[in-house]
Amino acid sequence: MEKDYTKYFKGPSLKEAKHRGKEEVKILKDEFVIPEAMKNAGEGKTYYIKTYGCQANERDSETMRGILESMGYQETKAMDQADVVLLNTCAIRENAELKVFGKIGDLKRIKRDRPDMIFGMCGCMAQEEEVIARLLQKHPHTDLIFGTHNIHRLPELLHEAMMSKEMVIEVWSKEGDIVENVPASRENPLKAWVNIMYGCDKFCTYCIVPYTRGKERSRLPKDILHEVEELKASGYKEITLLGQNVNSYGKDFKEAYSFADLMRDVAKTGIERIRFTTSHPWDFTDEMVDVIAEYENIMPFVHLPVQSGNDEVLKLMGRKYNAASYKALFDKIKAKIPHVSVSTDIIVGFPNETEEQFQDTLKMVEYCQYDNAYTFIYSPRAGTPAAKMEDNVDLKVKEERLQRLNETVNRYSLAQNKKYLGQTVKVLVEGYSKKGNDMLMGYTDTQKLVNFSGDPKHIGEIVEVEITDAKTWSLNGKICE
Ligand code: 5AD
Ligand code: SF4
Repeated sequence: MEKDYTKYFKGPSLKEAKHRGKEEVKILKDEFVIPEAMKNAGEGKTYYIKTYGCQANERDSETMRGILESMGYQETKAMDQADVVLLNTCAIRENAELKVFGKIGDLKRIKRDRPDMIFGMCGCMAQEEEVIARLLQKHPHTDLIFGTHNIHRLPELLHEAMMSKEMVIEVWSKEGDIVENVPASRENPLKAWVNIMYGCDKFCTYCIVPYTRGKERSRLPKDILHEVEELKASGYKEITLLGQNVNSYGKDFKEAYSFADLMRDVAKTGIERIRFTTSHPWDFTDEMVDVIAEYENIMPFVHLPVQSGNDEVLKLMGRKYNAASYKALFDKIKAKIPHVSVSTDIIVGFPNETEEQFQDTLKMVEYCQYDNAYTFIYSPRAGTPAAKMEDNVDLKVKEERLQRLNETVNRYSLAQNKKYLGQTVKVLVEGYSKKGNDMLMGYTDTQKLVNFSGDPKHIGEIVEVEITDAKTWSLNGKICE
């Protein structure tokens, strides 16, 4: 019989994480403190952070970098040389988790040679009971586990891990507060992620996020606007407003203040480029469409995950819209926002999906002709309602559907990109292109990657580029001097 480790610790609980109470969300301004013993703990030492998953994790890693650097640690790109290694993990699909377990295996060998190294696991996987049990059983070389609600406690937790021989675990299955005034060290000097809210209350039946990231809670407009003003003053050209569903922004406030209001106020700061993600097709308001269309510095690009094109599947997924209402919203966005581009997420092989139901998804792609689509095979996540559904679809069939879907998706991506041939577009020049030959790279307002020739003195500027070639994933061009 498997040993029950849960009695040794107060670990995460998916059942508890599901709970949504009526308590007010606390906004904690003074919660981040560095204990005396840790103030200079990082002098002469290095850290390595590996980030998996979505932009919320990317942004959390920037917070951890900021915290570690404020204790004197410096970043290294060599995992096996670092004094502190953190894996910031993703739980959205099984293959994301398998990658992390592979890395944890590598770390076993490294820790054998360098036992003083601290290895910590955090992020969404840390919020899963099963994962914690497996680490306790099979990976005792893990020094520290902390969840998505505990990031601001990193200095204290690191201290405990250094002092203790036991695995230090601090994961709260709480609905969540908002912690302000935590440092951040951003990866990109031109583009910044800005959290506007945390958590998700949508509970789509396949999705683990509402359990790992707690309830929907919005940051105050003044805190967001202050952050945007600061970013603008320090030279940032582009910000992306982040939330699992940004449309829900402000629904938890007593006063009426919506995502459309926030976008309007952020646009008025005059920062050059504003993006936002992700938008659920269910509560995308007309006012939001109008605001995006109205302000030049709100980029004409919408990520609008459809997930499936079939009404029965959408119902089982708990998505609260149907194919017709999705198309109506899509049409409105296309009609009102000049030269807008639209991307999406699609899941194939939801339990018992039939060939006909899958065909409806293909039809949806044909209708919308997306600029880009992220496609996934459904992956059951323990604790979610869909994981309890019996499934009669073979993995082979799901793989074959994914392939057919990708062919269709790619065909439209290429067709959309070809429309840019000969056009002049505005690109924020980010740096040198991976293509080499002194080529530069950047993105259009519509979020198309462009590789182009031009003078590197333009790095950091928004320039005009003439498009000379169009491929499925990117455009080529030359700068208009
Ligand atoms: N299996 C497959 N894909 C999933 N996604 C979320 N949960 C799952 C799952 N269990 C996809 C959705 C979502 C994107 C971020 O990941 O398409 O929009
Ligand atoms: Fe997951 Fe649905 Fe929330 Fe997106 S809206 S994070 S898919 S539960």
